[in-house]
Amino acid sequence: MGAPLLSCKDVVVEYKTRRGALRAVDTVSLDIREGETVALVGESGSGKSTLGKAIVGLEPIRSGSIKLNGTELGGLSRRAMRPYRQALQMVFQDPFGSLNPRLSIGRIIEEPMLVHRIGTAEERRRRVAELLERVGLSAEMMTRYPHEFSGGQRQRIVIARALTLNPKLIICDEPVSALDVSVQAQVLNLLADLQRDLGLSYLFVSHDLSVVRHIAHRVVVMYLGKFVSTGERANFWDSPIHPYTRRLLESTPSVDAVGAPLVIGAGDNDEIPSAMNPPSGCRFRTRCDFAADICAQSEPALRPVGAYGMSACHRVETLASGAVRYGADENENIVPIRTVA
Ligand SMILES: Nc1ncnc2c1ncn2[C@@H]1O[C@H](COP(=O)(O)OP(=O)(O)O)[C@@H](O)[C@H]1O
Ligand code: SF4
Ligand SMILES: [Mg+2]
Repeated sequence: MGAPLLSCKDVVVEYKTRRGALRAVDTVSLDIREGETVALVGESGSGKSTLGKAIVGLEPIRSGSIKLNGTELGGLSRRAMRPYRQALQMVFQDPFGSLNPRLSIGRIIEEPMLVHRIGTAEERRRRVAELLERVGLSAEMMTRYPHEFSGGQRQRIVIARALTLNPKLIICDEPVSALDVSVQAQVLNLLADLQRDLGLSYLFVSHDLSVVRHIAHRVVVMYLGKFVSTGERANFWDSPIHPYTRRLLESTPSVDAVGAPLVIGAGDNDEIPSAMNPPSGCRFRTRCDFAADICAQSEPALRPVGAYGMSACHRVETLASGAVRYGADENENIVPIRTVA
């Protein structure tokens, strides 16, 4: 297998706040190959959007490395960064907020070509027409304005704009979360068609596993700035080997691969800790029903676990052996637990 299209190594992103530095992305590494969809999942506040923004150059990285086709993007000047900016695009959740209401659709889709001084007016017009058709709209729509379109149509326009400069990788940040369920499927199908036809790669950010399950080749789970588990999609649903990954699966009613929902931690300590001041050791320990002394003392490294993928959990071997329906008793022994019918 060739070198990955995108390679992130030990990436750290911090925000300056009045209370000090908030480390929103803490030492994460990720490769994405050409034509691959990697899903990035986790609850709100886990750092998903921040990582996406860092990859496309919208947030500076504090340390680490981001390479595109082997070229380090971290230290590049704005000018040197330009061709890479074109290759890396981002589609945001809110198709209402991300289109300027005063500009026509044609002008909006043309914008990246204007910024990069590409083509004559006629060439740009032809490209806009082609892009509108490509995303399932019609060329005549270029003279109309954003308010004349539905949410799903607007997201198609946003996708057309992202395609203008022939990107290699698109960060899709919750691209269908704001849409009706019936429209979600159409936009996901469009993204899949574009990937097949154009060889695009996606980093698909979502908090909704039922969306991810249809499109991802690999799944990365993020919690409070860290990756806690990664794996191929099939393994992810068959063998959710990290306690947090299981928790996510339980809270997704449409995911049926694990059968009856597990009973782990019924809500008592279910508050997400602050990223300003994460728990010592394993960051998930305040919500984890398998937590033992070691979990507070040392941070679990992300490491391979059998055939399943990677997991950052001290106790994963115990959890991974045998069936998935296990819990901890009062002596911290792993025992089979009751499932809800
Ligand atoms: N501009 C910002 N300034 C300060 N903190 C931020 C900023 N953007 C995000 N954060 C904080 O960084 C953490 C990660 O946020 P984010 O990347 O948006 O997570 P997610 O996309 O997974 O919901 C959160 O604690 C959030 O409050
Ligand atoms: S390391 Fe400990 S606290 Fe963290 S997920 Fe594993 S068992 Fe739970
Ligand atoms: Mg986000």
